[in-house]
Amino acid sequence: MLPRLPVYILISMPVLLVQGSTANSSKKSPPPGPPPPLGDPSWALGLHLYRALRSDSSSVNTLFSPLLLASSLGALGGGSAGTTSSQFQDLLKTPSPTEAGAGAAKLLSGALKSFTAANGTSFYLHTSSALFSKQTPPVSQEFVKGSQARFRLQHRPLGKGDSKADLKQLNGWAKAGLGGLEGAAPVAEVQAKAGALILANAVRFKGLWEREFSEESTDHRTFLGKKKYTKVMMMYRAGLYRHHEDVENMVQVLETPLCEGKASVVFLMPFHVETLARLEKLLTLELLSKWLEKTNITSLSISLPKVNITSTLSLKEQLSALGLTDAWDQKAADFSGVSDKSKGKLHLGGVLHWASLELAAQAGKGSANLEEENVDKPKLFYADHPFIIFVRDNVTGALLLMGALDHAEGEALHDEL
Ligand SMILES: *[C@@H]1O[C@H](CO)[C@@H](O)[C@H](O)[C@H]1NC(C)=O
Ligand SMILES: *[C@@H]1O[C@H](CO)[C@@H](O)[C@H](O)[C@H]1NC(C)=O
Ligand SMILES: *[C@@H]1O[C@H](CO)[C@@H](O)[C@H](O)[C@H]1NC(C)=O
Ligand SMILES: *[C@@H]1O[C@H](CO)[C@@H](O)[C@H](O)[C@H]1NC(C)=O
Ligand SMILES: *[C@@H]1O[C@H](CO)[C@@H](O)[C@H](O)[C@H]1NC(C)=O
Repeated sequence: MLPRLPVYILISMPVLLVQGSTANSSKKSPPPGPPPPLGDPSWALGLHLYRALRSDSSSVNTLFSPLLLASSLGALGGGSAGTTSSQFQDLLKTPSPTEAGAGAAKLLSGALKSFTAANGTSFYLHTSSALFSKQTPPVSQEFVKGSQARFRLQHRPLGKGDSKADLKQLNGWAKAGLGGLEGAAPVAEVQAKAGALILANAVRFKGLWEREFSEESTDHRTFLGKKKYTKVMMMYRAGLYRHHEDVENMVQVLETPLCEGKASVVFLMPFHVETLARLEKLLTLELLSKWLEKTNITSLSISLPKVNITSTLSLKEQLSALGLTDAWDQKAADFSGVSDKSKGKLHLGGVLHWASLELAAQAGKGSANLEEENVDKPKLFYADHPFIIFVRDNVTGALLLMGALDHAEGEALHDEL
């Protein structure tokens, strides 16, 4: 068994131990946290959808933005009626029944504004959301104005061409929405005939840490991925972080703040090397809330892989499984608020989602004046095997991103397992 301690930590530990002698300094109670997940529509949708996506055990690296998706679905649901509408509402319903319907829409709209306003301080963000449709039937201008203002959902007419041309337009839109990102997979199929609405979200996110990580550039480490062991760059930092060890379930929970505290990145990682299947079966909103509550400030030595998690998803199957069924059906769908019925009928033809998250070492601008931390006998959080990751907004409580890293790109160390 190779020692798992990164060299950096062995060298810096004595220095840190000396600093750690101040009484009580590392036992402060955690600062007040954001609103709990249980009453938030982005968490309810995010967790249900995450489980639906991951029930396909062949999935490798998953990422989506529950907030963007919930907002866009909320906007579209606002233009529906009858059972189509109630199915949209059920999808965005939370276990705490305080906010439903108009309440959920208000929460989502507010959270979306807060998310985009934090661009450049806690993270760099590129994002676009659009509703695509063919020229006929025409989409109501009132609906377009409302969705744009409240949910950043634009309307984009699809060209007159065939489905190949539609795909080209959609994939081109996604690339622009991702700020020109190379390497995001294109969508390969789309049903965009007259009357079909295609809902699309694109988001690219790079967190700026509250405190910078240092890069270990001379030595690549091994990431023990689901299919392959690969060599990846790791970054390190010892500091005070919110952390919790659930010994019964053998899970470490780590919350790392982003610059200016507007959002944080949470990692859920099994104690030992394993696929995420066991952890994913445990994952409920209740347990997640409990874990997040239990984290407390701990001296920690963190190693994270420098990776990009990138996903392209077509969500029809999963959203149908979660109860959104009428919307897709040309007969049953009722989008009478999106287009006047007399001008032709609309249904949902696709929900496409592109997302990318970059884990890098960089801290934000506001990090320069932070005091030194007193790190005392740090515990290890060594992320060299698959983990679940999410980003939550510290102000509104919304779930900004949710995903998993099963595999890290890099030179393969062994043959396929
Ligand atoms: C340290 O904590 C203890 C209780 O946990 C308290 O009685 C004591 O006053 C604290 N000391 C300082 C220096 O804050
Ligand atoms: C932090 O949590 C651990 C268990 O997870 C517990 O043993 C410890 O007492 C807690 N510390 C504080 C300051 O609450
Ligand atoms: C975030 O800021 C960058 C420039 O720093 C800009 O290119 C990008 O479009 C902004 N994103 C949003 C969603 O406004
Ligand atoms: C979250 O925001 C609150 C209120 O602004 C702040 O006190 C707290 O430190 C923030 N939490 C993190 C993890 O930055
Ligand atoms: C992640 O993506 C960004 C943007 O394309 C790129 O600059 C960076 O090198 C990538 N990082 C890794 C580890 O591949």
